[in-house]
Amino acid sequence: MWRKASVAALLAIAVGYLYHGSPELPEQILQYISLPNFQQSSQSQDSQKSLEEVISSAWETLITLPSRQWSKVAVGVNACVDVVVSGVGLLQAMAVDPGVGLDHEVLHSKEDLKEAFIHYMERGAAAERFFSDKEVFQRIARAAAEYPGAKLYVGGNAALIGQKLATYPDLIVLLCGPVGPKLHQMLDEQIIVPPESLQETDEYHLILEYKAGETWGLTQAPQANRFIFSHDVSNGGMSLLETFVASLEDFEPELVVLSGLHMMEGQGRELWEERLKEAVSAILDIRRDIPIHLELASMTDRDYMNSIMQEVMPIVSSIGLNEQELLFLSQADEGPHADLAAWKGIPDVGRVSDILLWVLEQHGRSDPLSEADLTRIHFHTLAYHILATVDGYWGNQAAAVTAGARVASSQACGLQAVDVSKVELKAPLEFYSSHTEPREKLTINPAQPVTVWRRGNVTFHMTPVLVCKQPLRTVGLGDAISAEGLVYSELKAEQPF
Ligand SMILES: *[C@@H]1O[C@H](CO)[C@@H](O)[C@H](O)[C@H]1NC(C)=O
Repeated sequence: MWRKASVAALLAIAVGYLYHGSPELPEQILQYISLPNFQQSSQSQDSQKSLEEVISSAWETLITLPSRQWSKVAVGVNACVDVVVSGVGLLQAMAVDPGVGLDHEVLHSKEDLKEAFIHYMERGAAAERFFSDKEVFQRIARAAAEYPGAKLYVGGNAALIGQKLATYPDLIVLLCGPVGPKLHQMLDEQIIVPPESLQETDEYHLILEYKAGETWGLTQAPQANRFIFSHDVSNGGMSLLETFVASLEDFEPELVVLSGLHMMEGQGRELWEERLKEAVSAILDIRRDIPIHLELASMTDRDYMNSIMQEVMPIVSSIGLNEQELLFLSQADEGPHADLAAWKGIPDVGRVSDILLWVLEQHGRSDPLSEADLTRIHFHTLAYHILATVDGYWGNQAAAVTAGARVASSQACGLQAVDVSKVELKAPLEFYSSHTEPREKLTINPAQPVTVWRRGNVTFHMTPVLVCKQPLRTVGLGDAISAEGLVYSELKAEQPF
């Protein structure tokens, strides 16, 4: 009885707040009122349920499609086939003998490949290299694809985002990128690939894995890792970008998703400077009323990052990125917390919030007088996600951010749905809206697991991730998160300015 009475009292207080139109009405109370099964969620039931269970079932209630959904989405332009194979096994099958490690910036031969592989294997460090000889690379790629136990996956951010979008049967997806016969065969049947985007050969990315303690000759790997190499000229130069933009005229998408800019960095400054200018002018050819989402990926050159920030961000509506990319963005342009060399452990929510706000204020449309288009950032890190949007442009943010977290929580475990026994909550339950004053103390309420706060003209929606305890395959997780977030996002028809 007392419980019902206290619920009634709380509702009365909340309604009282509403009735008087008090601007200080705490978000928490608002969330309680809208909680559909509040009356049933008795203390005794909740105490038996794990936080993970409570969060996972609250997500299911929260995740609803927006009233206006996309019917056609175009995605471009990086796509490839990832071949995952045992590094030692493949080199042995190629009749290469073990030897001494030596790093090479570019691999010109099988010998270079062997030396660089050993160099990184004995350190247990990840590396990615370009293989310059096309013929030799094709032979190695064929051997790798046919090696027993080799696993082939759809690769490249655009192809992975396309695959995820194609799981929604009502969505028509166009994918433009270097699509060879193998990739074409692996893609979801629902995906439309324009004929101009088909290639005779696939762009293979060879991923040589090794286990912790694995030996080859005198080399022993201190930990498991992977050595990646490719001869990927199409993706390196974003060679399909112009084809992609041209195909939009006939396809008439409601949303464009662009990725692969990071691939150009490896070409060296002279080439990327030139190509980035062309890329910007191609993007500007896309009709202004079609929103563009840009998916960022790992980059290492500050000047390149800075050029993307200055020239590309203002002409896209939305970006998706992870914690490394966000910090690198700030470092490249002396933004907030740029002095931080790297995140230690779970990135501090306040610091992340500071950088997100800075991006939207410096390079976005937080000020209505700004010429910039950027109004949305989908940020993901292992333990939590944040969707930051400039007020007035986007809807359904709570569903969008939770849909992204749900796919991260299931896909990392290799599952279609979240299994609460296989995941754990790692996000802090209390945090601040900024690293510095003035700041608001915020909490995660597991029964209503989206925490909302506002700064300036930007609203932040944050949800924890249920982190998979034994992840199977995390490649492409960021792409899946961004794709889900977009499916559940809605662009408001009437924009305020
Ligand atoms: C927020 O929007 C208002 C107009 O609605 C504008 O005057 C103000 O400058 C904006 N604030 C920031 C920080 O851009």
